[in-house]
Amino acid sequence: MTTYLITGANRGIGYEYCRQLLNRGDLPIAVCRNSSPELDALGIRVVKGIDLTQDQDLASLQSQLQGEKIDVLLNNAGIIESVSLASLDIESIRRQFEVNALSPLRVTHVLLGNLASGSKVVMMTSRMGSIDDNTSGGSYGYRMSKVALCMAGKSLAQDLRSRGIAVGILHPGLVQTRMTGFSGITPETAVHGLLARIDELNLDNTGTFWHSNGEVLPW
Ligand SMILES: NC(=O)c1ccc[n+]([C@@H]2O[C@H](COP(=O)([O-])OP(=O)(O)OC[C@H]3O[C@@H](n4cnc5c(N)ncnc54)[C@H](OP(=O)(O)O)[C@@H]3O)[C@@H](O)[C@H]2O)c1
Repeated sequence: MTTYLITGANRGIGYEYCRQLLNRGDLPIAVCRNSSPELDALGIRVVKGIDLTQDQDLASLQSQLQGEKIDVLLNNAGIIESVSLASLDIESIRRQFEVNALSPLRVTHVLLGNLASGSKVVMMTSRMGSIDDNTSGGSYGYRMSKVALCMAGKSLAQDLRSRGIAVGILHPGLVQTRMTGFSGITPETAVHGLLARIDELNLDNTGTFWHSNGEVLPW
């Protein structure tokens, strides 16, 4: 059985990862601040009370997982807050960096001891973190934090290659979750594609920036 650890698992794409992984016979471990009735209903292990920006919560996550092998670490939790040039909210940009860029790197760092040769790390980024693809501007905090996340993913791909660990940098598409006001493709469709990408992730394609539909995205 393959063990997946998923952050942001109480709703949206993270919850859907848990649901599909369970259905296909894998072993999802859900990490969240607070669980949800849907997540509880899956009957899987839920590590609650983990705010990914808090040192003590990351230490708690590390100790609760001590000695357990993780095959796939899914850094999924994220936030979006609108920041335009006209209303440049620096605190908001900082918050988005904390959650979207720093937390996935910190989670990966505290769980490095749980990863072994053949394990995979996934960064859930966004096409909005593609510099080449930016034709509409704005969204300073989200775009900048996701670019930084892409770069963290690329460095991890280099640094973890010698340990046999592959890193995927994935965009789900525009997905019907609270983040988007429930517009776009269904979480079912997005996660179906994301899991196909994760299944095909290996040391030859490590560090690739993929759309869930299989398209390789420009940096
Ligand atoms: N939906 C899209 O169209 C889309 C497109 C591109 C990329 N993405 C990326 O895909 C990922 C999942 O997005 P989603 O659409 O599923 O979003 P969502 O429904 O808004 O869910 C976000 C998840 O992140 C968690 N989270 C936020 N801040 C956290 C923190 N400080 N500590 C722990 N957990 C935290 C939330 O937990 P709480 O319930 O406790 O707030 C929630 O579980 C994100 O990284 C997002 O940027 C989504």
